[in-house]
Amino acid sequence: MVSRPELIEFQGEWTTHYFRDNWENIQNFKARPDDVLIVTYPKSGSTWVSYMLDLLYYGQSTPQSPRTGRLHERVTVFEMCFPGPQPESGGPPPVYRGTEQLDNLVTSPRLIRTHLPVRFLPKSFWEQNCRIIYVARNAKDSVVSYFHFDRMSLVQPEPGDWNSYLHRFMEGKMVHGSWYDHVSSWWEKKTTYSNLHFMFYEDLVEDTGREIDKLCSFLGLSPSVEEMEGLKGTVEFDSMKQDMVVNQVGFPWMDTKISSFMRKGKVGDWKNHFTVAQNEEFEEDYKKKMKNPTLKFPNEP
Ligand code: A3P
Repeated sequence: MVSRPELIEFQGEWTTHYFRDNWENIQNFKARPDDVLIVTYPKSGSTWVSYMLDLLYYGQSTPQSPRTGRLHERVTVFEMCFPGPQPESGGPPPVYRGTEQLDNLVTSPRLIRTHLPVRFLPKSFWEQNCRIIYVARNAKDSVVSYFHFDRMSLVQPEPGDWNSYLHRFMEGKMVHGSWYDHVSSWWEKKTTYSNLHFMFYEDLVEDTGREIDKLCSFLGLSPSVEEMEGLKGTVEFDSMKQDMVVNQVGFPWMDTKISSFMRKGKVGDWKNHFTVAQNEEFEEDYKKKMKNPTLKFPNEP
């Protein structure tokens, strides 16, 4: 049975037991040189880019070659350690461990999705010089998306009211830690680790095709014109919202009566949530925390 967990502090980072119960296997994980990692702070477009990669490497499902499984089975959520459904025959539920799923995977490359901050990424990924894609989304839309997600996801701590949630986000007391530290430290990693492709959610919304082209050149992939057209159609927000591979409809731990997993997919939804006073306070605090002048989100002055 899944239940809403407590927020816990683990080695200086806020998280829940679902992401730390398998910690030893996570830290000792053996990467393979062709592993591809998608790293994001929560709610920054991880599902979107994971689906792009899945389609680029393994193709669309067609009647001739159908593909089964939902996205979390195709692109493994690395740090997750999660009880599965109760077996009808009784007995304890199976436990889903990202590391185990990856160890057993024979297809190559393995596509791996994680929210780990840079300092917790197992050293094997660096040693193997794996390709890493980082997707960043502006802080205000990230916190709004996260708030709605925490309302509907029954495996996240209770979000509480919007104002206290926003302040908790500013303090970094969120599952997967501080947005500010996550984005800044992955951005800085780019200067010393060249196999890292940094993307912005806002650029993806502005021109998905252009960003997929950049992604393909980073990955050394050359899809045909037809494949690219098919891919672009499949990853449009409206088609992903209807797509059972990604929309998390029917998951027992998502209450879709409260909010959709594929919610709005827009840039600037924060304007519908922040009051003028909240925005001023947030901006002031943001300037103190985000000091690196080279990190600029698209359309930022
Ligand atoms: P919103 O809650 O603002 O709608 P993640 O996958 O990292 O959890 O990120 C989820 C956010 O990405 C959600 O934001 C979701 O709607 C958005 N998203 C997912 N697929 C998208 C797409 N094809 N186009 C635009 N946004 C998308």
